[in-house]
Amino acid sequence: MRILVVYDSMYGNTARVAEAVADALRPEGEVRLLPVAEATPAALAEAGLLIVGSPTQRFRPLPTVSTLLGGLPAGSLESVRVAAFDTRLVIAEAHNAVLSFFVRMLGPSAYAARRIERALVRAGGRPAVASEGFLVEGTEGPLKEGELERAARWARQAAAPQARPADRVADGVETGPRGAMGPRKHA
Ligand SMILES: Cc1cc2nc3c(=O)[nH]c(=O)nc-3n(C[C@H](O)[C@H](O)[C@H](O)COP(=O)(O)O)c2cc1C
Repeated sequence: MRILVVYDSMYGNTARVAEAVADALRPEGEVRLLPVAEATPAALAEAGLLIVGSPTQRFRPLPTVSTLLGGLPAGSLESVRVAAFDTRLVIAEAHNAVLSFFVRMLGPSAYAARRIERALVRAGGRPAVASEGFLVEGTEGPLKEGELERAARWARQAAAPQARPADRVADGVETGPRGAMGPRKHA
């Protein structure tokens, strides 16, 4: 399988996650790890599995990532399985009332990963695993302990033939076997 991991990063944390994702996927096929500046819509369309990552900034991916995704021709990812990730703050630790308010209002859409996922699906991509966020200690990082290992597990789920949604720890929304609607009544 041809696997392409595309990312951008301001302080290096998303780059580290992208490297962990790429390393975890090496046993699954031919893996390319590309900074967004080197990625083209044609390269994305050639992948069997495409993973795109960005830091969340002001609830969105970096403009470099949005521009690349915005330039994808309609249907160009029809034969591509896709997955998206971001890095993000733990909102409760940010002590920022505006940020907390918008995260409550927007839910998972307050993060880059969900927006990247939507753009990939709009271009025809088929989600391989639910989008995921990986947590940083502060604006410049470092990543929280264990996040690189969690990223590697998430990547392996994306590559699995019958990938199921990962546990959405960072969104606070559980989409594991019980689904996104919360606990079953007769659990
Ligand atoms: C201008 C700016 C805006 C940010 N906005 C958000 C935000 O809306 N939500 C969030 O969780 N983190 C936000 N952050 C924190 C970033 O997510 C964090 O810097 C990023 O995960 C670090 O990844 P990087 O090292 O790859 O740049 C923001 C950071 C900056 C610099």
